[in-house]
Amino acid sequence: MLEFILVVGAAQQCSIVQIDYEALVHGDVSAQVAQAFGRDGHGILAVTTVPERVTELRRDLLGLSRRLAMLPPETLAQYERPDLNYVVGWSRGREKFRGQPDVHKGSWYANGLHSTPASGTIARKYPTSTAEPDWPNEELGANFSGVFRDLSRHLYNMSQMVLGHYDQRLADVTHRSRLHVGRLLHYYPGSAEWCGWHNDNSMITALVPPLYFDDSTGVEVEAPPGAGLIVRTRTEERSIVADDDHILFQVGEAAQVMSGGKLVATPHAVVAGTTDGVSRESFALFVEPNWDEPLQPPPGYELGDVLDLEYGDLIPPLRRRLPNVPVDFAQFLADSVREYY
Ligand SMILES: *[C@@H]1O[C@H](CO)[C@@H](O)[C@H](O)[C@H]1NC(C)=O
Ligand SMILES: *[C@@H]1O[C@H](CO)[C@@H](O)[C@H](O)[C@H]1NC(C)=O
Repeated sequence: MLEFILVVGAAQQCSIVQIDYEALVHGDVSAQVAQAFGRDGHGILAVTTVPERVTELRRDLLGLSRRLAMLPPETLAQYERPDLNYVVGWSRGREKFRGQPDVHKGSWYANGLHSTPASGTIARKYPTSTAEPDWPNEELGANFSGVFRDLSRHLYNMSQMVLGHYDQRLADVTHRSRLHVGRLLHYYPGSAEWCGWHNDNSMITALVPPLYFDDSTGVEVEAPPGAGLIVRTRTEERSIVADDDHILFQVGEAAQVMSGGKLVATPHAVVAGTTDGVSRESFALFVEPNWDEPLQPPPGYELGDVLDLEYGDLIPPLRRRLPNVPVDFAQFLADSVREYY
């Protein structure tokens, strides 16, 4: 059985593997990446002292996240895409999580890199991952789409370098892909749990450190005590805190499968802490294989090597969502969505 230790508060934060940006670009950091993402790691690492342009884009985009969520509901409704299951453009209260409508967060979804990631047959087959939203640039008085895409491109580039240090074969899979989903998140005040336990389906997820705002004044505040990202390792639960010039990278289930279980996806959740009246803004780029990419372990590995890590009731078991391999990534996504919602 896994021990279940809740670790919150500044004194007990864990130190995750940190890789300096310069070393990521020019050095050999393969051992650090393998340590962070391997079976005994935390499944998460921080790249530190990222270029100033990245931290500027992060502040700009997270500020827009709050302003977006504060637009009148009737304006936001114009940016919903019920025809695409609300996974393009604005989405609040439309997704279910374990049977309950999720009103605790408002999301803006779009492909991070491409306004037209595919055309023809592929676009018709996978409209939810290839459609471009209308962007409320005018309502926000800002180049929202430009900031969203510029930040995503930087995060994608860093993701490729992180993956490449571990296994160029995995980086090649995401290099072939045009499916890299950006999700801007506004977590509304007044909920104890902002986001329940889940694994990402991605190959790797880039996460920017969040910003917190006093909801009534709009003044930026410190993280409320206990608030933030928590991850579950094989033996314990840890809270993750990142500095403003860090970018976090987390392993997803596609990497777990395609590495034959050598990499392990990171169960994670977001808790709201003890202070009410505070909102949280965050952004994630899910770097994914192509829709048609066959998901399977590499030669010499079996599906069993991938499935032997289960987290009890915490995460819907992978074996239920991945009965056979190879399976198209799009099918795996659809089967996962069914298990979670
Ligand atoms: C918005 O930003 C994008 C990306 O930086 C840029 O290409 C575009 O010209 C900008 N649009 C405006 C209207 O400033
Ligand atoms: C990322 O950006 C650096 C610096 O601009 C560039 O040299 C490198 O080729 C890029 N890497 C990838 C994988 O896109």
